[in-house]
Amino acid sequence: MNAKKTKKIVVLATGGTIAGLASDAQQPQNYTAGQVAVEDLLHGVQPSGFEVLSEQVAQIDSKDMSFAVWQSLLSRLAHWLAQDDVQGVVITHGTDTLEETAYFLQTVLHPAKPVALTCAMLPANAPDSDGPANLQDALAWVQKPAAKGVTVVCAGQVHAGDAVQKSHSHQRNPFTSQALGAHPQSLQVPTVAQVLACKAWPRVELVLNHAGADGRTVRALMAHDAPQGWVVAGTGNGTLHQDLQAALLEAQKQGAQVLRVSRCAWGGVQTRDADVFPHAGVLTAVQARVALLLNLIAQQA
Ligand code: SIN
Repeated sequence: MNAKKTKKIVVLATGGTIAGLASDAQQPQNYTAGQVAVEDLLHGVQPSGFEVLSEQVAQIDSKDMSFAVWQSLLSRLAHWLAQDDVQGVVITHGTDTLEETAYFLQTVLHPAKPVALTCAMLPANAPDSDGPANLQDALAWVQKPAAKGVTVVCAGQVHAGDAVQKSHSHQRNPFTSQALGAHPQSLQVPTVAQVLACKAWPRVELVLNHAGADGRTVRALMAHDAPQGWVVAGTGNGTLHQDLQAALLEAQKQGAQVLRVSRCAWGGVQTRDADVFPHAGVLTAVQARVALLLNLIAQQA
């Protein structure tokens, strides 16, 4: 007789404040991220009715996120999602680059099963740490029939993984999200295999339009260590100082791809007849950078 397999939830840990420790728990602002092992994070928060498996994929402060960690995370996530008895996956992550990881995973994988990234603003040993409740909420969210694709579960809210952004530096609920952050149609998405096989990730730099933006940074880099892509966060509707625009046109002639976003927190860029460079709609600058990276990986594969 075939015993019915117990459904599994997999927790992939990458570090962050949720796994952080303060040297003095009464002064939780002085802490080091990525200290507590995933097994310890899970004490007391395991859901009933599911077997919880866990893996320590990385143990970093997410400001130090690297392509190598993204590749490991993507590889383990794809592995676990392909198992019939896996209901969903929870990823613990620092809040600082969480929006980039969430956008990356949703865009490359588009998983039908639920994947919830969760995090904390206070370290694990702070008396009122928000990590355990966020982890519990994420474990509960991936059990729900409505949960699909990559989401971010934090402070009692659920955000779409390709629309979320960290918009506050220290409050307990640091995330907001705007209209679904659709991947720009003109940009290709590589397969999981192409991303995992990529040995040298393309370089995409970010530049901001501002008063007096003269394009010197763009020209200097193109002359000495040219990146393959530029994301430019323009003013208002993604507009560029004429000197910065000229420098980016030169970069484009040298083969670099250029993608525009707005430096405004809300609204994104709307298409205009006079557009010189393509834009990434409502994507933030860092999401657009991931989108352009993925386009370059797809094209070089
Ligand atoms: C990090 O992003 O790893 C540190 C900050 C945080 O998790 O809030």
